[in-house]
This record gives sequence, C-alpha cells and structure tokens, in this order.
Amino acid sequence: MISKSLDETEKIAQDFLNKLKPKTNGATVVGLHGDLGSGKTAFVKLVAKNLGVSENITSPTFVIMKHYKLSTINYKLLIHIDAYRLDNGNDLTKLGWQDLVSDPSNLIMLEWPEIVSEILPKDYIRVDFKFVDENTREIHVAI
Ligand SMILES: Nc1ncnc2c1ncn2[C@@H]1O[C@H](COP(=O)(O)OP(=O)(O)OP(=O)(O)O)[C@@H](O)[C@H]1O
Ligand SMILES: [Mg+2]
Repeated sequence: MISKSLDETEKIAQDFLNKLKPKTNGATVVGLHGDLGSGKTAFVKLVAKNLGVSENITSPTFVIMKHYKLSTINYKLLIHIDAYRLDNGNDLTKLGWQDLVSDPSNLIMLEWPEIVSEILPKDYIRVDFKFVDENTREIHVAI
C-alpha cells in the first residue's frame, strides 16, 4: 500500500488492527522492518492511538522498551521495542523477553526485528516500510 500522509498511514494502521487476532499460545509479535525514518515509530503511535492509548508515544530508541496499558478485549499491554541498539536476541532475553512473549494478552511491536531475529516466534507478523519521498511511504502488511 502507498501512504501519502500520516492520515493515510492511520487508515492502514486501523485496517491492520482490524485484521489482528490474538494467539492462544503466546503474545502477538509484530516485526516492523524498514530503514531509518521509514515510518515504523509513526505506525506504532497510530496503532496505539487507535487502541485507546492516550499517553504520548515516544520512540524507545534510548530505553529499548516501553509498555502501555491497554483496556481492549484482546490485549492488556502494548510493548514497543526498538532493537536498533541491541547486538542480538540475547540482549532482549536479558530484558525478560521470554515472559513477555509467552503472554497472549501482550501485543509486542518491534522495530529492527532483523537484529533479534533468532528469538522471534516463527509466526511473527511482518510489516515492511519503505521511504518513497518526504510524505510518501510504501507499507506492506503480511497478515
Ligand atoms: N506517509 C507517511 N507515513 C508515515 N510517516 C510519515 C509519512 N510521511 C511522512 N512521515 C514522517 O516520517 C517520519 C518517520 O519517522 P519514524 O520515527 O516513524 O521512523 P522510524 O522508521 O521509526 O525510524 P527509526 O529506525 O530511526 O526508528 C515521521 O516524522 C513521520 O511524520
Ligand atoms: Mg523508530
């Protein structure tokens, strides 16, 4: 899909949420692939907004992981991770990844998933972002 504005990206985020189904055996993990500035954090912000998160979502680049309480039927917690500064999956394991990923009430959205690829569940949902020009992004959701 092509998005020419944040409003269009919000529509894509809403559509994505409508298709999302919780798993019974673990967290729903969403891997956001794409270059710097391609819109991964922007997408998480719009997903969070549409899940009713009223807090300001800021990039977890420096803190690695942020948690937002949800009061939706399917998910209790949105976990936003930026793996950019990590070396590999072991760094996430040290941050309690096993517990987070085994809880079906968690929605985990992870930027730079390729850095921690070895610990991602095989069935993680992949979203790809591509910078086209200043206001245009190509977004591909594999759901
Ligand atoms: N159509 C669009 N959809 C999404 N974001 C857009 C769009 N047009 C412009 N932008 C802007 O692009 C920027 C994307 O930045 P963002 O922080 O989301 O990138 P990122 O992929 O998370 O990068 P990083 O890897 O550095 O974390 C935002 O400032 C956003 O407002
Ligand atoms: Mg980001």
